[in-house]
Amino acid sequence: MPKLAPLPLLHVCVALAAAGACSGTMHAPADTGAPASWAFPADQVVPTYGADGMVSTTDRVASEIGAEVLRRGGNAVDAAVATHFALAVVNPEAGNIGGGGFMIVRLADGTTAALDFREKAPLGATRDMYLDSSGAVSERALVGHLAAGVPGSVAGMWEAHRRFGSLPWADLVHPAINLADGIVVHARLASSLRSHVEELRRFPATSAIFLGDGQPPRVGDRFVQRDLATTLRRIARDGKDGFYHGETAALIEAEMRRGGGIMTRDDLAAYNAPWRDPIVFEYRDHTVISMPPPSSGGITLAQILNTLQGFDLRSLDYHSPDHVHLWTEATKRAFVDRNEYLADPDFVPQPTRELISDGYALRKRAEIDMDRATPSARVLPGLGPFARTARTARREGENTTHYSIVDRSGNAVAVTTTINSLYGNLVTVAGAGFLLNNEMDDFAALPGTANQFGLVQGEANAIEPGKRMLSAMTPTIVLDPAGRVKLVTGSPGGPTIITTVAQIVSNVVDFGMDVGGATAAPRLHHQHLPDTIVYERAGMRAGTVAALRARGHALRERSGYQGDTQSIVVLPDGRLAGAADPRRGGAAVGVRVARPVVQ
Ligand code: DON
Repeated sequence: MPKLAPLPLLHVCVALAAAGACSGTMHAPADTGAPASWAFPADQVVPTYGADGMVSTTDRVASEIGAEVLRRGGNAVDAAVATHFALAVVNPEAGNIGGGGFMIVRLADGTTAALDFREKAPLGATRDMYLDSSGAVSERALVGHLAAGVPGSVAGMWEAHRRFGSLPWADLVHPAINLADGIVVHARLASSLRSHVEELRRFPATSAIFLGDGQPPRVGDRFVQRDLATTLRRIARDGKDGFYHGETAALIEAEMRRGGGIMTRDDLAAYNAPWRDPIVFEYRDHTVISMPPPSSGGITLAQILNTLQGFDLRSLDYHSPDHVHLWTEATKRAFVDRNEYLADPDFVPQPTRELISDGYALRKRAEIDMDRATPSARVLPGLGPFARTARTARREGENTTHYSIVDRSGNAVAVTTTINSLYGNLVTVAGAGFLLNNEMDDFAALPGTANQFGLVQGEANAIEPGKRMLSAMTPTIVLDPAGRVKLVTGSPGGPTIITTVAQIVSNVVDFGMDVGGATAAPRLHHQHLPDTIVYERAGMRAGTVAALRARGHALRERSGYQGDTQSIVVLPDGRLAGAADPRRGGAAVGVRVARPVVQ
């Protein structure tokens, strides 16, 4: 382990000490950056460029469909609607009409908007509905009919289109219908289905679609989702009512009855997708616009970045022990508040202003000791501790997805959408052809115990009928100091969504990385509990790990990678640079519209 020479960076701390920034000493960088064996060197993530628009998604076909809408003169919201429905077909493990999500919009005229199409607990839900006879949380919070929240995606797309869309609704749904009539299976879908055969077998309607004659489709096979195509036709024809009323609603209710679920046609009819005030905060002369509760994303992102704002990160080597230490200390302090206070604002008053205030960040900075990690047990929210126990975690699946879009006028849209975990609750609505979410597990089913992501959440996020479960999804748009869109980003990954987005923003704003480098850089995660820094496979140098352990941090290398960002950066000359994350392998598709040649 390299010996850390103290002090060369002490000026950072000294300069900030007067503002209560930190205590202890900044250390000189030890060995830094990504290890030689890191899987995604910065120069291998080559951005895509576009003069007249950009769509970045986890699937090339979906990106092409969004880009085609832009080519036809649709705006960024039109493209989002078409992309969303396309992802529901080509990326059924994450894209969805059976789940929900969040959209951040920033129009070229300066309008900002945050759309909440998060699922809601059915009206028959009760606080203890997942507790078994021994008082523990049962598997029914994750698998099967009872795990589903009332889906929000179709209402969300309908509402976004009603407010901002310019092309006819049906034209935006039709490409997805064509895809549901038959796609050629590509490697990622084949591999995802192949590795989840056991899960897909658990419910017959799911098995019938994805396992056909007992085996999943292979690369190059034609994959037809006939029932999904029919459902999409109803949505194309009747809009939102094609999902929340009539045949689709009847099929959902029948599925619920068959499997012991509680969602009814009344739940579907009562569903709404409200506009909320986005979280807006300044980060080093940039303006960050992100999602408010019921997503914790925007507030927690603001808390992390507000805390870091007091430190001159630019003077630190990337992923040096000082950088990781500061980042971790800021993050664990943000997550303890997230887990305690944040919840559906329609049910629980949210202390948004206090949590994202400068004064609060100042207090948090003053708690940070540069020499020692503060144990999470000593990092407490204002409301005091509650009992903490762990439940077995399901592995993080590819069940959430993010897409970013900018159109030729400069309108920007960021959407993150999910069915929560591996193929949602594993239940396909028979006759309707789509998987349902298991978003109910994002509630604190037993406040004070961990959910599938290991998040230990409190009373604020307890189950109540009609309430939306707290999310970590963080669709985010960053404006440059002149108020122009600079970055559109977001990611899947449960609680790691927030830390992934925080790192993308910091990579671009603090470290001046281009969109490819910001995407490629190895990522970290800390969520207060468990009190462990999790880094990506081969994503941190041994010397850095040792130096952090010496400061009292626990570290763990994850077996895979963190997140699947889809990011667009607007370059100073107005061109768009897009990067799909190589961790899952999507595509950023640039748009260039042919212009008449002037003789
Ligand atoms: O809303 C949330 O925070 C979670 N349901 C997201 C789950 C997720 O990102 C899983 N996947 N990759």
